[in-house]
Amino acid sequence: MPGLAVIIVGDDPASKIYVRNKKLACETIGIHSEEYALPQDTTQEQLLALVDELNRKKEIHGILCQLPLPKHLDEEAVIHAISPKKDVDAFHPVNVGKIMIGNYDFLPCTPAGVMELIHESGINVAGKECVVVGRSNIVGKPMAMLLLHEHGTVTICHSKTRDLKEVCRRADILVAAVGVPELITGDMVKEGAVVIDVGMNRLENKKLVGDVAFDSAAEKACAITPVPGGVGPMTIAMLMKNTVKAATIHE
Ligand code: GUN
Repeated sequence: MPGLAVIIVGDDPASKIYVRNKKLACETIGIHSEEYALPQDTTQEQLLALVDELNRKKEIHGILCQLPLPKHLDEEAVIHAISPKKDVDAFHPVNVGKIMIGNYDFLPCTPAGVMELIHESGINVAGKECVVVGRSNIVGKPMAMLLLHEHGTVTICHSKTRDLKEVCRRADILVAAVGVPELITGDMVKEGAVVIDVGMNRLENKKLVGDVAFDSAAEKACAITPVPGGVGPMTIAMLMKNTVKAATIHE
């Protein structure tokens, strides 16, 4: 039976919800899951000791440490400590390098989920103008790479991009992953574009919104993902897929 260990440090409310959903998905499909909820004041040594234990644990094939970690902890050191064979997030430099080359075991869950949505919708990426807004290691950069692997013409935008609106308006496929509530408005979307919203922003009134202003963008798009209920569930599905794959790699 595939086994997934999820580590969460502290009590960030959003992280707690994500971890709960990951656990529920494991239960639904019959993956063994173990949750390690560590207190806010956990030390780097304690966290690394747990990762080391899980790296050696036979029943565990995938290890995920929910990010962000509390400020006093070194995220990069934790990512490096997870065995690349159990790295179901695909954040370890070995796995990042393999993705860049195009010969990989795991894909990072969110970009992989976006690609799955694109494929299942019958959209062909080859030759398309693809614009990714956001350059994070978790989403933006690997997202651009996956679109490139499928022969998209890819542009990555970020906070220093001049005239974001004009660049976005070129996109046949527009992926928003910046974490700015409703940054992408209808006037930034080309008629007939595919719009994929990776944003998960909690407003002061507790409402969850994406990086795309859905209603105005939907007037232009031929296909668009909502928030919540779009990319989020796909991320979890891809985590399940990676965990099953990790279990087969170990055998
Ligand atoms: N925090 C936000 N997204 C992710 C993710 O995909 N994996 C982990 N480990 N932490 C996250």
